[in-house]
Amino acid sequence: MATNSTDLAGRHLVLGLSGGIACYKSAELVRQLIQAGATVQVVMTEGAEAFITPITLQALSGRPVYTSQWDAREPNNMPHINLSREADAVLVAPASADFMARLAQGRADELLSLLCLARPIERCPLLLAPAMNREMWAHPATQRNAAQLRADGATLLGPDAGDQACGEVGDGRMLEPEDLVEELTAFFQPKVLAGRSVLITAGPTYEAIDPVRGITNRSSGKMGFALARAAREAGARVTLVAGPVALATPRGVARVDVHSARQMHEAVLPLAASQDVFIATAAVADWRPAEVQEHKIKKDGSGQAPSIAMAENPDILAAVARLPRPPYCVGFAAESRELLAHAQAKRERKGIPLIVGNLGPATFGRDDNTLLLVDEHGHREIPTGGKQALARELVREIAHRLKNPT
Ligand code: C5P
Repeated sequence: MATNSTDLAGRHLVLGLSGGIACYKSAELVRQLIQAGATVQVVMTEGAEAFITPITLQALSGRPVYTSQWDAREPNNMPHINLSREADAVLVAPASADFMARLAQGRADELLSLLCLARPIERCPLLLAPAMNREMWAHPATQRNAAQLRADGATLLGPDAGDQACGEVGDGRMLEPEDLVEELTAFFQPKVLAGRSVLITAGPTYEAIDPVRGITNRSSGKMGFALARAAREAGARVTLVAGPVALATPRGVARVDVHSARQMHEAVLPLAASQDVFIATAAVADWRPAEVQEHKIKKDGSGQAPSIAMAENPDILAAVARLPRPPYCVGFAAESRELLAHAQAKRERKGIPLIVGNLGPATFGRDDNTLLLVDEHGHREIPTGGKQALARELVREIAHRLKNPT
């Protein structure tokens, strides 16, 4: 995810560190949270101070770090109350096995567990990023504590699987800072698609001419990937069928990679009938070379260019819209002129309830865009913005239409 976004603008977070080697990642986490627009108040346990100094975290967060419940800087001497009243959320990263055990018991013998207990539970959510050796994570005591903490309303982010500092491999790694920022951003988004499933196509397709050449287009896939992230943030189960693009898969999204339009068609059709929503953002090639040459086509010295016979590709969106019980279908229309007229005509031709128009040359590969929503009632523009912000707004529009079918 782009860390220079402002997805957490205006959020005030308490970031708690308990003792664990993953504390070294928390320094980078502070940087990324601040880059995403949040303000961060760091609180450390004594154990955390054995791994990283408060000075590092003060320098990165721009605020003195709290380490003691007896901190005399607070006029009323109640840092546990004051810090948690100001926060939009408390994130403990790393959350050690011992810290989780203490939280599960409601202990309050040092500042971080004390402020977790003292926070207004309805208004100030608690998120935990566990970090520990795989045996410690798998131990029934830790699993019992994790279940208890969830039952008490905490959200657990991770842990991840992989190489551990102790040299073992397994579950227990703290999520990477960029993953935690992505999870936190998602956490704050309204869950307007909770319980829904969403299938999205994205990117260009690649239609081979011979083993080394092909026909493709300038779609970057950014809009489709932003929509996949926004739908997942909104609580949906998301499947993303992607043409050849160099983009990271948004967290929690199931991705199927394809190359050609026919592969995309084959991937989409079996999945589509069981979805609530289908969003076709892919710039699918309308035609493909009728035959793929087995070997590279060579110049023959005649000066004559080879002619390539073309065949029409299946229209994936129209095929999904024709299913007996289709998902709610959303198409995209990338035009170079007369956007509204072309989008209206395309919506009717494809038999879909909603189409989103944009000007192809103005959007392909860029980070921002302007969208024109066209449905049976009329049209509405979503003014120019970043693709992620536009994607979130489009997801809200789709969720609204699902709830209020016309
Ligand atoms: O017909 P046109 O390509 O302009 O339509 C664009 C819309 O239809 C987009 O939503 C695109 O993803 C979808 N489409 C498709 N299969 C095709 C061509 C377009 O799903 N073969």
